[in-house]
Amino acid sequence: MNTSFQAIPLTDRVYWVGAIDWAVRNFHGYQTSRGTTYNAFLIMGDEPILVDTVKPPFLDEMLTRISSVVEPQRIRTLISNHAEMDHSGGLSLLMATLQPQRLIASAQGKKALQQHFHWPHPVETVADGQRLTLGNSALTFFETRMLHWPDSMITFLEGDDVLFSNDIFGMHLASFERFADQLPANLLREEAAKYFANIILLYAPVVEKLLARLPTLGVTPRLIAPDHGPVWRQDLGSLVAQYAMWSSQKPTQKAVLVYDTMWHSTEKMARAIGDGLGSAGLAVKMLPLGASHRSDVASELLEAGALLVGSPTLNNQIFPTVADTLTYLKGLKPRNRLAAAFGSYGWSGEAVGHIEGTFQEMKLELAAEGLRIPYVPDGAALLRCRQLGLSIAGKIKERLA
Ligand code: FEO
Repeated sequence: MNTSFQAIPLTDRVYWVGAIDWAVRNFHGYQTSRGTTYNAFLIMGDEPILVDTVKPPFLDEMLTRISSVVEPQRIRTLISNHAEMDHSGGLSLLMATLQPQRLIASAQGKKALQQHFHWPHPVETVADGQRLTLGNSALTFFETRMLHWPDSMITFLEGDDVLFSNDIFGMHLASFERFADQLPANLLREEAAKYFANIILLYAPVVEKLLARLPTLGVTPRLIAPDHGPVWRQDLGSLVAQYAMWSSQKPTQKAVLVYDTMWHSTEKMARAIGDGLGSAGLAVKMLPLGASHRSDVASELLEAGALLVGSPTLNNQIFPTVADTLTYLKGLKPRNRLAAAFGSYGWSGEAVGHIEGTFQEMKLELAAEGLRIPYVPDGAALLRCRQLGLSIAGKIKERLA
């Protein structure tokens, strides 16, 4: 038997049996710079239960970890909290090889699984708040629709008081440490924020409703076990408070300045605008797109008070890298940020107007008229750029006063 992978105990009878993906760097457009984990959990009651699974290439790792505790064929119940393939991609093979008695999902989960697999397997649905006793394990299921798919749900195990929170409270971080308190706090905050900004932000209003609902569910978790990254066992209140803060989208005295450039003119403008913002005392994050990934832009924007976007005009359009990032940010629906556009141009200069159009669609408040400079900015033009930075800094401070 392959014994290279072992189950890791989380409580007396709950084991982590997931997989570590050290190599993944692209998660549908999100740059997972530190890899990720696909977390699956084995509940070793008198009827073993598997909560979620792993991405298909990692099934062997998961099954080997399970085998270190129990023969996988003894698992009679599979729970699918979420149909996305990083958690459910292996279900077809597991259904065929383990032949469990039950596969449990939400009603939307059943539909999504059938639409993915087009399979004959029955799926037992659970309603929001439904409690099931499976052998000596009592589980309650709560729908978390649109966090972040319509099918998403979370599962609470009584006694051990583990909340299997699926994608919520997760992060993309490959590590051998299984508990958050074994990892540096700054690393956790950075990756949790990146995950929130890129996966959860669009659904911030849904998070607020969930957080308001949590105290009414009648469950008090001792562990929060998400499907990516480490398990939380300490200071769960701070974790929830952090989510509440990010969901509120309250701006801070920080500006994010995103740009790309063709012949360094828009870059010169960006540097001068940034200088103005910085000299007014703002925290400024300069993100040249030749050296910055769109998902890092989303992360930096999470707590910012302003978004400034610079683009040259290329063939009457926004420069492609800038258009890519803007499209991505628009989908995430950041709110409560001031915005401004700028850019160098040759003869037509439509990019700034296009960017402002996108800002309007994003419901971001324009802090200043877009600044367009023909060809190469001279000293006077760079002074205008700096003044733009100073002016926007003043408006951010005004809003926060
Ligand atoms: Fe980690 Fe929405 O899947």
